[in-house]
Amino acid sequence: LPSLPLLLLLKLQFVCISVQVVKHLEPFRLSLEKLKEVSTRLRKDMIRGLGKHTHHRAAVKMLPTFVRATPDGTEKGDFLALDLGGTNFRVLHVRVMEEEQKMVKMDSQLCAIPQEIMLGTGEQLFDHIAACLSEFLDSQNLKGQTLPMGFTFSFPCEQKEIDKSILIRWTKGFNCSGVEGEDVVKLLKEAIHRRGDYDISSVAMVNDTVGTMMSCGYRDQTCEIGMIIGTGTNACYMEEMKNVKRVEGEDGQMCINTEWGGFGDDGSLEDILTEFDKVVDRTSINPGVHTFEKMISGMYLGEIVRLVLMKLTEKKLLFKGEVSEALRTKETFETKFISMIEDGLENAKKILTELGLTWDLVDARVVRLVCETISSRSARLCAAALATIVDRIRANRGLPHLKTTVGVDGTVYKKHPNDELQKAMHFLAPDCKIKFLVSEDGSGKGAAMVTAVAHSLSKHPHC
Ligand code: GLC
Repeated sequence: LPSLPLLLLLKLQFVCISVQVVKHLEPFRLSLEKLKEVSTRLRKDMIRGLGKHTHHRAAVKMLPTFVRATPDGTEKGDFLALDLGGTNFRVLHVRVMEEEQKMVKMDSQLCAIPQEIMLGTGEQLFDHIAACLSEFLDSQNLKGQTLPMGFTFSFPCEQKEIDKSILIRWTKGFNCSGVEGEDVVKLLKEAIHRRGDYDISSVAMVNDTVGTMMSCGYRDQTCEIGMIIGTGTNACYMEEMKNVKRVEGEDGQMCINTEWGGFGDDGSLEDILTEFDKVVDRTSINPGVHTFEKMISGMYLGEIVRLVLMKLTEKKLLFKGEVSEALRTKETFETKFISMIEDGLENAKKILTELGLTWDLVDARVVRLVCETISSRSARLCAAALATIVDRIRANRGLPHLKTTVGVDGTVYKKHPNDELQKAMHFLAPDCKIKFLVSEDGSGKGAAMVTAVAHSLSKHPHC
């Protein structure tokens, strides 16, 4: 252990250095007043996204999902669920049991999607998916049956019906050619026909936020918002049909996939973007797309930290001005390092050594400060966006106070302490009392639930 005078010296050194470090981190610190402004901007963008004549130019797409009801607990049956959105593709066999009000994953299979497929042709991607599905059906002896299928496809899609879904654009790590502007259900069916060894019946298309809301909705019927803070970030919520101007009908509600990741794509967040955010965007596979997501989600947080660490090292505020090869290389600082470092200095020391850096205790503490700053900005921005949605639901219903539940999923949410998010929510939506319910396998089970609700609605259309 270092001796007391040495500890005091280290402390003093840390204080001196952190004064200068804090100056560099200042642009990431968003005041509650600034968050309020961000929330007001998002509120206006959401209205633009919902409008009949304004939606095509809107940065926040507000996509109708054709999900008109949350579960009521009477759904039941066996379903297949497909899940594509991260680096894996999954197939699940899910049983919804009315008596016990629970969903059980009977079995599932995971297929990795190699990067050359993520960046290849659409045909390759859907052939890969169809092959994985075929293998699963074989292993489960399900090829003869045609179970209803829910497909969680976690990208912005213009839905015409529950089973017709046109990809607007790829986000996150995907960029397959020939899919944007096409109906994803049609591409999946074509790939299955190319194989010719099995067939499928109806497919309900689901965004992962919707799956999350629906899977939580089975446990808690007041759940009417789904939020993801994972590789990407997004939220959906139940909107009044009379406000969904692009879909006929005035009665009841419809779930809207906000695609809030696109907030700022029209330049509206310019004042809060840092030089580091701009580099992350410029060097991404989709510059100019999903500005808000790039400040918040797991795909980008590690890279923001790496760029800040590089800058601080150049300014001789870290590692005695010496950058390692690893730190110089794009995306070597993984997002999971952030929560590990926030968890304790011992982790920081291990990670810095693995990255080939020569560090001292002061360096380790500065790195932790950087990680805390970047993850806290992510949480506060999410709070600003979520507050906008809950307050909209409250205003829609003309209520002075709203009590509601948000279904949540995603590693960034699960791995970080969420008090920052909740504190900011308190300030930004003081009239709303929110319960967060972490979804268990929302993308998989939720797709089954959407299919189940769609089924029971088609059997009892007036319920
Ligand atoms: C991206 C996608 C969106 C998805 C989110 C979370 O933002 O565009 O559809 O919900 O990631 O996975």
